[in-house]
Amino acid sequence: MPRAPWTLRLLRTSTFRLAAVYLLVFALSVGAVLGYVYWQTLKLLDEQAEETIAAEVQGIAEQYALNGAPGVMAVIKRRSQLDTGGLYLLTTPVGKRLAGNLKSLPAMALNKPGWIEFSFGVETPRGLTEHRARAYYTRLKGGYHLIIGRDIQQLRQFGRIIRNTLFWALGLTAILGIGGGLLLSRNFLRRIDAITATLRSIRSGRMSDRVPVEGSGDELDRLACALNDMLDEIERLMKGMREVSSNIAHDLRTPLNRIRAQAEDALRSNNPDRHREALEMTIARADELLKTFNALLFIARAEAGQGASGFRDVDVSEVAREVAELYQPIVEDEGGSFTIQTPEKVMLQADRQLIAQALVNLLDNALKYGRADDHPPEIGIRVENHADHVDIVVTDRGPGIPETETEHVKDRFVRLDESRSRPGSGLGLSLVTSIARLHGGSLVLESNDPGLRAVLRLPKKR
Ligand SMILES: Nc1ncnc2c1ncn2[C@@H]1O[C@H](COP(=O)(O)OP(=O)(O)OP(=O)(O)O)[C@@H](O)[C@H]1O
Ligand SMILES: [Mg+2]
Repeated sequence: MPRAPWTLRLLRTSTFRLAAVYLLVFALSVGAVLGYVYWQTLKLLDEQAEETIAAEVQGIAEQYALNGAPGVMAVIKRRSQLDTGGLYLLTTPVGKRLAGNLKSLPAMALNKPGWIEFSFGVETPRGLTEHRARAYYTRLKGGYHLIIGRDIQQLRQFGRIIRNTLFWALGLTAILGIGGGLLLSRNFLRRIDAITATLRSIRSGRMSDRVPVEGSGDELDRLACALNDMLDEIERLMKGMREVSSNIAHDLRTPLNRIRAQAEDALRSNNPDRHREALEMTIARADELLKTFNALLFIARAEAGQGASGFRDVDVSEVAREVAELYQPIVEDEGGSFTIQTPEKVMLQADRQLIAQALVNLLDNALKYGRADDHPPEIGIRVENHADHVDIVVTDRGPGIPETETEHVKDRFVRLDESRSRPGSGLGLSLVTSIARLHGGSLVLESNDPGLRAVLRLPKKR
């Protein structure tokens, strides 16, 4: 996928989008709250002005009722001279001014009494300026026009200032918000880019690269750690695969070459008996190869977590006794001793066939390698029922396995040098290890002083 330009990618990051949405919601709510406060304040101030005017109108109406137009004129004259911010005008029906501090009737149609708003000229040291006024207009009996009002210029100015502040505040919030969003996104993008770059480099073959971890423990760090763990695991599996394939190449080539040489030999001779013998050998060797392949396949499957056909309640003691029955006569034929110790019954969730296979492999080894020089074999099998696990122990009194090799021999195709003269492919213990792992357990190889003590350890709860 081609990389979009830096700025576009920045805008597309989830952080930026999140910041933008947050900013929008924030600005909307701040705007709504401030707008409401603004609207309420202005309303209150307007109401106050109107109330004052209304009170004055009331007073003058009373004055008119008592003293008629001359009385009103006197009051207005008096009030006009006081500097209270009040505006007054009393005119004749044709608009001639009788009293008040307003010059003339506002140039609006004055038909019926009510609230009006208009501009009027005010003398200031800087010349004539226009102010806004709010007033109540009424007509007295006899056609006199009466206007009582207030200069609300300051009120309007105050409103404008609040409005401006509001816009500035919102504008600034937007700028800071977008800036902050971009900054956050850039940091985020930088780290995502680092992860992407690492993954690309790994895909192009540098398997040992790892995603940088900043150590802050945040979610990206956790993601990086999880990715690194996964990469470790993949690397381990790939190494295992490589080992297996090179092992297979090495260890299967020898028997195949042998089969081939033998077949060639037989072809060259004209003796039908030789032919027959060679064919028989070929079949026997092919069988061995098939066995090896099956074991390899099983191990591979077990390591991938499949392979067990079914876990059931199995009496491990019974399995041990059954397998022992097969081996006892063989050992005793060779003049050796075979002992078996098992509790009456040890139940465990397990795959019966696999447990038997593992035991066969261990007993097979004990029989093959477990004798010192020319002494007859001494083989023991024991089932131990522990609190949270069951041990199936196979012991012999042979040379044992050096402690440094006990892990190594569990690997595929590994055979110790002194065993090479005996038949085998070095897969027996790998298979036991896989079976143990499939059951959530392990294979422990320790010294039996002398000899080997192989423990197949199976946990009761997987
Ligand atoms: N009881 C034992 N005493 C001494 N050495 C042992 C014993 N069991 C296993 N070993 C050593 O560990 C090696 C690996 O054993 P493993 O069972 O995996 O392979 P193998 O017996 O050689 O071949 P396979 O079991 O595939 O026929 C053996 O070759 C042998 O050197
Ligand atoms: Mg073996």
